Amino acid sequence: MTPGRFYITTPIYYVNDKPHIGHAYTTILADCLARYHRSAGDETFFLTGLDEHGQKVQQAAQKRGLAPLDHCDDLAPRFLGLWKKLGIEFDDFIRTTQERHVAVVQKVLQQVYDAGDIYVSEYTGWYSVAEERFITETELSSGQFRDVKELKERNWFFRMGKYQQPLLEHIEKNPDFIRPVHRRNEVLGFLRQPLGDLCISRPKARMSWGIELPFDQEYVTYVWFDALLNYITAPGFGAEETRFKKWWPASIHLIGKDILTTHAVYWPTMLFAIGLPLPQMIFAHGWWLIGDTKMSKSLGNVINPLDLIDEYGVDAVRYYLMREMILGQDANFTMESFIKRYNSDLANDFGNLLNRISGLIGKNFEGCVPSPGEPTADEKDIQNAANMLNNKIHGLIRELRLDEAIEQVLQLVRKVNKYLEHKAPWKVAKTDLAYAGTILYTAGEALRVSTIHLSAVMPQKTKTVLEVLSAVGSSPAWGGLAPGVKLKSHEALFPRLDPPPPSKC
Ligand code: MSP
Repeated sequence: MTPGRFYITTPIYYVNDKPHIGHAYTTILADCLARYHRSAGDETFFLTGLDEHGQKVQQAAQKRGLAPLDHCDDLAPRFLGLWKKLGIEFDDFIRTTQERHVAVVQKVLQQVYDAGDIYVSEYTGWYSVAEERFITETELSSGQFRDVKELKERNWFFRMGKYQQPLLEHIEKNPDFIRPVHRRNEVLGFLRQPLGDLCISRPKARMSWGIELPFDQEYVTYVWFDALLNYITAPGFGAEETRFKKWWPASIHLIGKDILTTHAVYWPTMLFAIGLPLPQMIFAHGWWLIGDTKMSKSLGNVINPLDLIDEYGVDAVRYYLMREMILGQDANFTMESFIKRYNSDLANDFGNLLNRISGLIGKNFEGCVPSPGEPTADEKDIQNAANMLNNKIHGLIRELRLDEAIEQVLQLVRKVNKYLEHKAPWKVAKTDLAYAGTILYTAGEALRVSTIHLSAVMPQKTKTVLEVLSAVGSSPAWGGLAPGVKLKSHEALFPRLDPPPPSKC
């Protein structure tokens, strides 16, 4: 990654339905990474948005009896509303129907056409309506595709196969280009077969909801050739060259594992054809499963993030999603695990630490942060752990190991809780008030440092804690808690939840 500059993207979501937890997950993850980088001083650009063309959207609009753009205009605010509720601080929200994007798609198509990398041909093949693409014989015989029909069509093709070798070389030379490593191997396996050319047009007679080809008015662009270009539209390709040069190539394209081929094969070959550098990293995360199946509208097992936010608060939802999924693997969403995680980490560990510290300072120091005296080995141990945390978090975030970074912070929180139990400052205060002050200062300071490290994941609750400590905007270096300041009063950060009744199935 280029030091000092961080450009992160999420996939742009199809507006064929309301946003669900899968969409929310990627967007929260991107938001957390963007917040960490911003707070580390990197200039950061965080892009998300909507994929508004193509068959799926057209069909969804038809079902509702709406014109496609009216349908998109109706759904876009639901995504924006959810992002607001989830505290997503994006820098740009792109919609592929925007004029700026249409201009880029047409410019790129013309450029690639002029360079001879787009040609017309008659094609007969198996077409998957669900996937919106022609599939190979092997894919057909896998039986994994629904809604397949044989289609004969005159279409426009992109010479993708021409870029197979340069792509292979790029992947070999850049071990971080596709991550995690098992996804990289998957793409290398895919590229062992000859890479065919890519059909990039749809006859308007069959599907009209798309961007018109500048060299053939009877056709619109295939939705992926349109959608992937959003990553260069937003930073200003073709319109604001200086800004574009500043941000491109992207640092990370965050995607789900189901859209790996389009991102790790189609997109880089398109960039080769345009003559642009490739993104620095494509990271494919796993799926949120319900039981052992993917969430899907047809199965009726979609978790609506808004319901969870209303019931448990935005930070608890962000925390659970970020802590529970090991990046790159699938994770199982259950209410049991949600409540268990909430109670153990947020109520018992983090929330309880604040309660104890503010309660004890209230009782013994009239609510004012005591001055620390000479530290003993135990205080030094806490201070060292807090200082080491700073470096650890930095490294883990750069490695995208967010769940581990969170666990490291919680380990410090647990350590401080144990330290308080062991030291029992409520007893020490009766005989040695100064040392009780040192203990509570140390615990309060470790709480402050931990809170700062959790603030990208839980922006609201951590702000509350920092307000209580009068330490908003302080740095994670040891010593930021000011002796003498009066702690603000507060409510329980994360009131304990009752465990849900055991599920019957
Ligand atoms: N429009 C395309 C992306 C174009 S990007 C240039 C698309 N949209 S989508 O709305 O169907 O899905 C967007 C993302 O949501 C994908 O990365 C997908 O993996 C993710 N998820 C959808 N369901 C999911 C889960 N159940 N769990 C985690 N993420 C999942 O594909």
